[in-house]
Amino acid sequence: RDELLFSYKGILYPVTFCSAEVFRAMESLEARSDDIILAGYPKSGTNWLGQILSDLVAIFEKKTQNKESSMKDEELEEFPYLEIGDTGKYEGDEKNTCTNCPLSSFRFLKRMNKLPSRRVIVTHLLPENLPRSIFKSKAKILLLIRNPKDVATSFYHFSNGISTLPSYETWDDFFVAFMTKKVPWGCYFEYLSKWNKYVDDENVMTITYEELKENPVLGVKNIAAFFGIPLTEKELQSVVERSSFQSMKKNSQKTHGAFGSVFFRKGGVSDWKNLFNEDQNEKMDKAYEEHSDKITPEDMLFSYRGIL
Ligand code: A3P
Repeated sequence: RDELLFSYKGILYPVTFCSAEVFRAMESLEARSDDIILAGYPKSGTNWLGQILSDLVAIFEKKTQNKESSMKDEELEEFPYLEIGDTGKYEGDEKNTCTNCPLSSFRFLKRMNKLPSRRVIVTHLLPENLPRSIFKSKAKILLLIRNPKDVATSFYHFSNGISTLPSYETWDDFFVAFMTKKVPWGCYFEYLSKWNKYVDDENVMTITYEELKENPVLGVKNIAAFFGIPLTEKELQSVVERSSFQSMKKNSQKTHGAFGSVFFRKGGVSDWKNLFNEDQNEKMDKAYEEHSDKITPEDMLFSYRGIL
């Protein structure tokens, strides 16, 4: 287990996804005011939102023709899943081919500084561990939040389904790790309380997994408006269709290789009810209430409680 993770500034990360060098190199990222930043803790739906944002950018570029490669319709089909992390291999690390991990964005630092606008940057990091230039540049940030119980449930299945993460014999073992900051990318509650400080900034928009699931048309519309991307009704429908769970699952071998089915598991709400016992439910309610200081649970737009 210890070999799979390393610690940086008190938080564990998988060694195959990133390294201390990446964190250091990241400091030199020059954010741009038109960058599109997606911040979300692992398993909160970052691949889903990554797909939506990539498509929105493709539409934006096609319209504004601000890129040499202004895209034709059929090329939109081929648009890389996560724009920044799409190259597969990179110099000096032939082993590492996890192309879709949001943090892998930062592996392509050199390339990133050269990438034309608008870039989609996806990250699982705490705000304090992001390059300062992201906040200085006033780049807009979409903050994605998901019911912590479903995050934990998804994370448990994911950890056991992917060889580069520690696996857990039982759900109870995972629950303890999740609640005590022993899972990669740190504690979700800490993540929430750190990002809570930014939710009132005008450059930050918050969206929950649950509201997007409930009304994807409205969600995509709001996201596009926030990033200043005009959409026709047809384009809106196409983004919603391409980012549906069914479409993404169908396409997952292409986008995520052998791990496709692990990334696109159930894609629903409240699967936590199949794992949590009463005591775990209470513990998580308590932890959630303690950490959601600024955003009260009522404001969170998801019902994190529910009957076991
Ligand atoms: P489940 O394990 O509950 O199914 P991330 O992308 O941050 O790793 O999050 C993964 C979770 O998002 C998984 O949840 C996955 O099924 C779900 N997901 C991925 N794509 C989705 C989509 N298009 N619509 C809804 N949920 C999606």
